[in-house]
Amino acid sequence: MYNVLVTKQLPGNWLNYLSNYCNITLWEKNIPPTKEWIIDNIKDKDGILVTLTEKVDKEIIDKANKLKVISTYSVGYDHIDVKYAKSKGITVTYTPEVLTDATADLIFGLLIAVSRRIVEGDKIIRAGKWDTPWYPTFMLGREVNHKTLGIIGMGRIGKAIVKRAKGFDMKIIYNSRKPHTDVDAEFVELDNLLSNSDFVVIAVDLNDSTYHLINEDRLRKMKPTAFLINASRGAVIDEKALINALKNKWIGGAALDVFEHEPVITSELFNFDNVVLTPHLGSATVETRDKMAEIAVKNLLLALRGEKPIYEI
Ligand code: DGY
Repeated sequence: MYNVLVTKQLPGNWLNYLSNYCNITLWEKNIPPTKEWIIDNIKDKDGILVTLTEKVDKEIIDKANKLKVISTYSVGYDHIDVKYAKSKGITVTYTPEVLTDATADLIFGLLIAVSRRIVEGDKIIRAGKWDTPWYPTFMLGREVNHKTLGIIGMGRIGKAIVKRAKGFDMKIIYNSRKPHTDVDAEFVELDNLLSNSDFVVIAVDLNDSTYHLINEDRLRKMKPTAFLINASRGAVIDEKALINALKNKWIGGAALDVFEHEPVITSELFNFDNVVLTPHLGSATVETRDKMAEIAVKNLLLALRGEKPIYEI
């Protein structure tokens, strides 16, 4: 039996499955464990299964004398010092692919919700403020079909967004580290993307080069009618600059699933009707979260046995 630390309850039966092969020390609450709890418990562990709310930094890694694997229940891994872990011979694994479609669906949902004012309409009805029968100029939004979609980042999720956008006959442009030959969309420079898109979707991971990528300068380049959609990591957008952009109407609106200091949100964002907010729901479907649990547990076990994990970073 291996000794493992698990920092959250997982959906489905996958922790039961894991318990056939491992002694599990489990943090049972939904709020993240403290760093002290992780440090106190990691000393004798062969593996750790974490989620994106647990920072696995040098200090924790240095306390983990026996650690062979860090398995994260996420596609993003900005919460782990991967370079340092690897320098210590620790395998780091993650759960891509299984959440691509769920995340791309949510991004499209946000895109339509903000441009067609769906959430705003719902609020008006619930507040009893829908008091005039149908008339031609009531709550006009912006069309999605035939518009220009600019995708920043062209990994798995970027490509899944392209597929969905084709169904809406959108013109698709994108920017990424390099052009992709397997994508039916036009590669453009970032400035060009910002100034020509009706919808700007962020599909990059968070790293040193994407931190506050969307800053005041870049927001000023967007069309005043364009919408910004983010379901990657909050810190890719400078939230203060975004609030400024919304106040000054440099952009048409925003739909955000992620925030720099989750679950704390800059309350000024609540003041804008043209902003849609969701609480980090990109991968939040029954099917996807179950598959993520399966992959995270299998990654952990495979790496503990010295075999090749399904997805290694
Ligand atoms: C991830 O996996 O990184 C998402 O943000 C949550 O599923």
